[in-house]
Amino acid sequence: MDDMRGPVVYTAPMPSKPTARSLRSLRALVFDAYGTLFDVHSLVALCEQIWPGKGAALSQLWRGKQLEYTWQRSLMRRYEDFARITEAGLRYACAALGLQFDEERCRALMGAYLKLATFPEVRSALAALKASKLKLAILSNGSAAMLRPLVANAGLRSLIGTVISVDQRKIYKPAPAVYRLATQRLRVPKTAIGFISSNCWDACGAKSFGFRTFWINRGGAPVDELGAAPDHVIKSLDELPELLRRPVS
Ligand code: LAC
Repeated sequence: MDDMRGPVVYTAPMPSKPTARSLRSLRALVFDAYGTLFDVHSLVALCEQIWPGKGAALSQLWRGKQLEYTWQRSLMRRYEDFARITEAGLRYACAALGLQFDEERCRALMGAYLKLATFPEVRSALAALKASKLKLAILSNGSAAMLRPLVANAGLRSLIGTVISVDQRKIYKPAPAVYRLATQRLRVPKTAIGFISSNCWDACGAKSFGFRTFWINRGGAPVDELGAAPDHVIKSLDELPELLRRPVS
């Protein structure tokens, strides 16, 4: 008789909930870049200028496709640099919305991607966190060539000590290998790293890996159903310094 049992699937136990004490034991804070520190939708105005009436729709679809392509290519084992993925997402979004796309428009928007605006509270929150002697780093899907000008243009170079790109592992978030890269580069164990993202699925991936996680839920969205809910939910980055200062219970 055939063995009807399926393959054994092992799901590692979830890391436990953090205590106030474990928050005080954090030694490094690692930030997602796009959507967390940098507002990808700050390009709506430029999109609107090029294609009046379509800016917001284009920006949403562009971002959505960009992320989908990172997940799909990771599963296909066909890694491509984030700049090329971003451009492919833009091409798709224009085609889907019936917008005329050419080299000049492509150059303008991809150039603007290197100068995205930060969310308003980012600079002051990072300065407060740096004053608390924590190591601050970025861990992003972006390639080094995209992240370097982005951080410099926003004037964050003196606040963010380490900028880490998934490009070193040739796979995208939320692959555990990406989060592991941060522990290796910072030489800090995962239980002493706090990971901050506005992308809920990214915070879930980091939680599943073993970081202490903070989801910035600016839009009041429900938590992703990935079996690895973030430890903390905040509305904006400026809540973080206070949260970390809370007395040990
Ligand atoms: C990043 C993507 C998730 O910066 O926005 O890694």
